[in-house]
Amino acid sequence: MIEFYDVSKSYPNGTAALHGITATIPKGEFAFVVGPSGAGKSTLVRLVYRETLPTSGYVFVNGVNVSKLRPAAVPYLRRNIGVVFQDFKLLPRKTAYENVAFAMRVVGASPKEIARRVPATLELVGLVDKGEAYPAELSGGEQQRAALARAIVNHPLVLLADEPTGNLDPATSWEIVQLLLEINRRGTTVLMATHAKAIVDAARRRVITLDHGRLVRDRQRGDYSQ
Ligand SMILES: Nc1ncnc2c1ncn2[C@@H]1O[C@H](COP(=O)(O)OP(=O)(O)OP(=O)(O)O)[C@@H](O)[C@H]1O
Ligand SMILES: [Mg+2]
Repeated sequence: MIEFYDVSKSYPNGTAALHGITATIPKGEFAFVVGPSGAGKSTLVRLVYRETLPTSGYVFVNGVNVSKLRPAAVPYLRRNIGVVFQDFKLLPRKTAYENVAFAMRVVGASPKEIARRVPATLELVGLVDKGEAYPAELSGGEQQRAALARAIVNHPLVLLADEPTGNLDPATSWEIVQLLLEINRRGTTVLMATHAKAIVDAARRRVITLDHGRLVRDRQRGDYSQ
């Protein structure tokens, strides 16, 4: 579950990115965040995994006030949050398998657990036969599948996706969104920032619309635009 209470965010240079955002994304929900470039979508996503702090208001993730966390507690928050980005952000010198395994190693998983869970997660995202490939040897869609496997391998309660299909063609984009929906069906709360109107309109999920940092629309089974 993700809760925003009257959240505003101004960056140090004075840019006001978000104004008075209040919204609750219940456990197990799938929500899109849409809006024009600069509306504040990425800022909203960054607040959830405490990449940035609100200027005022509160952000709760699974009941924990993210703004009040001691720095030492931030890694524990992030264990419960998976994140995927437009540009995948895979480690270039590691294979797809190693990228996913690394995410487990940093949280102290045992070699046995890693050997069990990495192949299963690669299978879930449809990448079993590409485990030994390096990111440069993968297509964009395959790289995003690997990034998704890395994001979910520790079974996060929340999955954040900031324009995960921004670099992909429409067919590949739809496959990635199907995976996000499947992960959501397995119980993970998903928050996805996107410009992909066709995907939002087809998915018929909750749509939160931002404009100039304000929440201007919030619909269950919504669509992209007015
Ligand atoms: N680190 C930063 N420092 C200063 N201003 C920033 C920073 N990051 C974003 N902004 C500004 O905050 C506002 C919201 O940016 P944000 O990246 O959240 O928008 P967005 O909706 O994700 O846009 P896009 O669709 O282009 O990704 C914009 O005016 C942007 O210029
Ligand atoms: Mg953005």
